[in-house]
Amino acid sequence: MNHLDQLRGVRDPAPGPVPLYSSPEHTVYWIGCQEDSPFRCNVYLIIDGDMHILFDPGSKMHHFPQVFERVSQVCPPESITHVVLHHQDPDVCDSIPDWLAIAKNATLVCTPRCRVLLPYYGFSADVPWLDVSPNDNTLLELPSGKVLNFITSPFLHFPEACVTFDETSGFLLSSDIGAAIEHDWRIVVDDWDTHWKAMVPFHVFYMASNRAMQGFLHKIEPYPIEAILPQHGSVIPKIHVKTAMARLKELPCGIDLLYPASNIEQALQALSR
Ligand SMILES: [Fe+2]
Ligand SMILES: [Fe+2]
Repeated sequence: MNHLDQLRGVRDPAPGPVPLYSSPEHTVYWIGCQEDSPFRCNVYLIIDGDMHILFDPGSKMHHFPQVFERVSQVCPPESITHVVLHHQDPDVCDSIPDWLAIAKNATLVCTPRCRVLLPYYGFSADVPWLDVSPNDNTLLELPSGKVLNFITSPFLHFPEACVTFDETSGFLLSSDIGAAIEHDWRIVVDDWDTHWKAMVPFHVFYMASNRAMQGFLHKIEPYPIEAILPQHGSVIPKIHVKTAMARLKELPCGIDLLYPASNIEQALQALSR
């Protein structure tokens, strides 16, 4: 069952994990964090039988104590079986050494280009890895029989970033795509126009280009997305998913703005249409 309707507009959920979807076999939790910053980071946890999958666990100093405490309210932290790292940023990955010290057999899930960078956070590369293929055919089969599907999102914003589609809930755990910088944060978007204004600056400054965004949006079109769960800002529920994707499809960002086409190039592009 999807709980997003009941959570729309909630500003400060009680401290602790919040179930966003739950069924007897499968639960998706928003883990946190509580942060005094509009850049606040979202960590998520999926429990499916004996698979306990942590997403983008955050930084050592700013997030780890809180995330550890909140995960403990759901499952023993040492029982984490997988840590999914959608890209290499410190607000996503800096706490990996702490998690590997606790969940000693956890598999790290990320793309190969991300994998070469992660040991620089300070752990041995000799840990279990699951490489996310750029062919977008990397699946993690869950005890419930459903899968997590890992899909690359090139240059959004890391060259080989990825996202996760959870087949059970229909949630797209989108990392920085769909993110927003919000002073007046709510766990789930309730006013689209206000939220879009908070999404625009993040995408303009972080995403490589509109072409990269269009390619990714085309790739995920076949997936029945029930909600977008970004790493920053509010969860985008189904009622706003199509609008969010349509607005992102049109948004110039990154090098579109830094290196705009010259007048002659624009005229040639217009003639070729
Ligand atoms: Fe990032
Ligand atoms: Fe981020």
